[in-house]
Amino acid sequence: MKHGNQELIVGLDIGTSKVACIVAQTRGGGREAEIIGVGQHPSRGLKKGVVVDIESTVQAITRAVQEAELMAGVQIHGAVVGIAGGHIRGYNSHGIVAIKNKEVSSEDVGRVMDAARAIVIPQDQNVIHILPQEFMIDSQEGVREPIGMSGVRLEARVHIVTGAVSAAQNIAKCVERCGLQVQDLVLEQLASADAVLTQDEKELGVCLVDIGGGTTDIAIFRDGAIRHTAVIPIAGDQVTNDIALGLRTPPVEAEQIKKLYGCALGDLIEQDDEIPVPSVGTRPPRTISRRILGDIIEPRIKELFELIQAELRRTGYEDMVAAGVVITGGSSKLEGMAELAEEILHLPVRVGEPMHIGGMEQVVRNPIHATGVGLVMYGLHNQVVTQAEPLRLPTAAANMDTSFGGIFKKMRSWVQTSFG
Ligand SMILES: Nc1ncnc2c1ncn2[C@@H]1O[C@H](COP(=O)(O)OP(=O)(O)OP(=O)(O)O)[C@@H](O)[C@H]1O
Ligand SMILES: [Mg+2]
Repeated sequence: MKHGNQELIVGLDIGTSKVACIVAQTRGGGREAEIIGVGQHPSRGLKKGVVVDIESTVQAITRAVQEAELMAGVQIHGAVVGIAGGHIRGYNSHGIVAIKNKEVSSEDVGRVMDAARAIVIPQDQNVIHILPQEFMIDSQEGVREPIGMSGVRLEARVHIVTGAVSAAQNIAKCVERCGLQVQDLVLEQLASADAVLTQDEKELGVCLVDIGGGTTDIAIFRDGAIRHTAVIPIAGDQVTNDIALGLRTPPVEAEQIKKLYGCALGDLIEQDDEIPVPSVGTRPPRTISRRILGDIIEPRIKELFELIQAELRRTGYEDMVAAGVVITGGSSKLEGMAELAEEILHLPVRVGEPMHIGGMEQVVRNPIHATGVGLVMYGLHNQVVTQAEPLRLPTAAANMDTSFGGIFKKMRSWVQTSFG
């Protein structure tokens, strides 16, 4: 099979609405990757980005992985897995060390990163990422590549992301029950940012907003580095819920109506536009004005963007995101989202689709896959690869001897990639 002796990178996005598994094969000596398989399955075991039902999460992961394996014709043993939810915290911190031998070595960089991570975090939290923002050598600020530079004092500014130990353990448990190894845990909005933002946007200043089903995840970049991360517990599920209540229709129908006819900005809807609405129970379907649907959706999305604006103001980044806002995730597909966001935030807004990666564009060029593709890109930049093996059918029983103990140790910092 053509995948022999090839290296694989697998991204596993365990979302509140769906689990997506994206398989890529490295090319060009490991510098590029091409997507060769995508699997997706509805997810019911998460609430607001956090696993609450292990059994159904395991089932959804198994299905998504099997589908991806079949499409790619390869066996999957491990994946780069996303983590999100309200338990995630972001802190800015810094560390200072003396430079040994008057020239910065990789060991000095390691020591200064260790010094920067020495902050007090709650007992039930664990560090997920230490993301370098910039280095300072003596009084020289804004150094991105310190190794080899001369000086006596090295200082690092970093963004530290922590998450609840139990939330990470539950994700690991689910993935390992499917016979897969967690090769790395990555904050979901960082993965999405990797997939949809341009380097120019990250330099100028940009706010990435991943609006999924359960949560809206934010990441702010400036001068090429991450500055702030946050989670807002409002996303597509609330909109569906509002529609179900407002139109008195079952949630499944409400979801369909939202996707087919939903619009975030009432002004975009024609006055005489009408839509069919199935009723609950035995009552016959009705026809209503699409404007009524708009009136239900708009306040919720407005609330969401007002919370994002409050976060930008609170943290002082409102005037520092010159490239504006990039929205992604499934809910960014709702008609009128970018328009309403611009109206509220007074910033340029675009919808971000995964780019910078080849293969199966027609499937993955979709905001829904921003996180999954981003996880693959993270794997590519950090060389989290496995050897490709042809698929053996039926899939071998999941019985790998993996344990959670090592995964936090395995987490790499983004030292190598953040300025790449
Ligand atoms: N065409 C569409 N129009 C409107 N909403 C859509 C559309 N397609 C998907 N959605 C919504 O996007 C949401 C799912 O997005 P996504 O797949 O990014 O979420 P997730 O990653 O599973 O969840 P989370 O990241 O919050 O854990 C659902 O609420 C769904 O209704
Ligand atoms: Mg998501």
